[in-house]
Amino acid sequence: MTSPTTPTDTVPRRLAEEVARRRTFAVISHPDAGKSTLTEALALHAKVISEAGAIHGKSGRKSTVSDWMEMEKARGISVSSTALQFEYGDCVINLVDTPGHSDFSEDTYRVLTAVDAAVMLIDAAKGLEPQTLKLFQVARDRGIPVITVINKWDRPGQAPLELLDEIVDRIGLTPTPLFLPVGIAGDFRGLLRRGEEGTATEYIHFTRTAGGATIAPEESYTPEQALQREGDVWVTAAEESELLSAAGQDHDEELFLAGHTSPVIYASAMLNFGVRQILDTLVELAPPPHGRKDVNGNPRGTTDPFSAVIFKVQAGMDTAHRDRLAFMRVVSGEFERGMVVTHAQTGRPFATKYALTVFGRERTTVDTAYPGDVVGLVNANALAPGHTLYAEKKVEYPPIPSFAPEHFATLRAHTADKYKQFRKAIDQLDSEGVVQVLRNDLRGDASPVLAAVGPMQFEVVTARMLSEYSVKTHLDRLPYSLARRTDPESAVELARQRGVEVFTRTDGVLLALFGDKWKLAYVQKELPNLTLEPLVAGA
Ligand code: G4P
Repeated sequence: MTSPTTPTDTVPRRLAEEVARRRTFAVISHPDAGKSTLTEALALHAKVISEAGAIHGKSGRKSTVSDWMEMEKARGISVSSTALQFEYGDCVINLVDTPGHSDFSEDTYRVLTAVDAAVMLIDAAKGLEPQTLKLFQVARDRGIPVITVINKWDRPGQAPLELLDEIVDRIGLTPTPLFLPVGIAGDFRGLLRRGEEGTATEYIHFTRTAGGATIAPEESYTPEQALQREGDVWVTAAEESELLSAAGQDHDEELFLAGHTSPVIYASAMLNFGVRQILDTLVELAPPPHGRKDVNGNPRGTTDPFSAVIFKVQAGMDTAHRDRLAFMRVVSGEFERGMVVTHAQTGRPFATKYALTVFGRERTTVDTAYPGDVVGLVNANALAPGHTLYAEKKVEYPPIPSFAPEHFATLRAHTADKYKQFRKAIDQLDSEGVVQVLRNDLRGDASPVLAAVGPMQFEVVTARMLSEYSVKTHLDRLPYSLARRTDPESAVELARQRGVEVFTRTDGVLLALFGDKWKLAYVQKELPNLTLEPLVAGA
């Protein structure tokens, strides 16, 4: 029975529609696999930009859309995570950017808590590279379905099925191509669309445009026409498709959503070949936002009152404004700029007067947002990664676990007169999650110990100390490489051991630091009753 629409049920219905048309994903890849180029190609297809190369491109312009610090520009890497939102057909796509460098894998982990799917981007010539493997593992741990894109097919590389075998062998994921390339790597003519049991249903032929700056025109042919047009090259692709089916490598929605299989698309981000197919696949196969469980395991549905999780805090993105942005991913309900929400960790109200979407240097005010969307909140000083915001109905989501640090250093201000700013800056960078800050009585507060997953995090700290707080600092690396969680009783005994130091992290966790795994093994053997637990995430 359908009842006439009343004002009370139009709101949840509209909300449910907005949720259903959203897709929020991140690209995981090794540096240089083509993430920036693909991001731009996606933006081009969605008509966000009219020409590729405007924000990232050839001619040595290495200023990608996500650059924000001098350091990034100098190194040609992207440190910060931002989000690009665009409409594609009836869908709203949120592409959340991930830092490319492995030293910032903790940031990437946080980003992956905010997405519903991941695109694993692989360079056709290089195959699976270390950072891709690491990030894939994180996506798998978080239960995020993964779509695989094999990029740079316009360049000579491996055979198409060889690359798929590598995925099976090395990560135990079953690739299920939706499209196969027509033409070997380096002679990319188009895509074969695979239908039921691997039968070719369509040939999509691409035409190059000058420098790949605009969308590559597509022509669609029937398999018969494709045979006439491409001859043996088509036959090879069709045979490969059948071989895959014989091996059971056909798309299966349930297995994909459970993270066992991964649909594959061959593409050239640079030439804009296969990019539309990537977008269509995201729309058709990637899951829309779903609800979450709170700290007590109670579910909050997407159409429940507003709630959001902070997954990233970023300061200094705009040196002219010296601001601090907290990025939230909306989990439930409708967000309206100006609404006063509650910060679950402090119970304090938080006014959302300044809400933005941020992509690189582009900032746009956000008035309304729905589950799956990413919004940057300006000058949100109390907000830290893992924190919850909510309206009406109280909720607190589980915190984002921090990675096990592997690099340690003491930091102190160059001159004593800057001590106050130094303290303030340390607290700030700590709460943003730029590094972990460890303290003990022996070392005192003037030179806290910084703990990082990758040493480049230290560079970010010293660079920001100088640029944002005008504090010149001195960093001394410490000879530790392993941290274990301990308890107050064990800490007393551990602190007596040579080559072991115990610290309290800002979140209250006691950490014992060891030079290497042999030192740890020795202590564990000599003192078997002490508490020494590995840190969970990323360990
Ligand atoms: P990243 O963000 O993953 O680090 O990679 P990025 O997009 O910066 O691409 C890395 C390099 O790979 C760039 O070349 C880029 O042009 C190239 N590239 C990306 N996608 C494709 C593709 O589909 N085909 C080919 N042939 N090349 C691709 P570069 O020489 O470092 O820079 P540039 O001179 O092109 O600007």
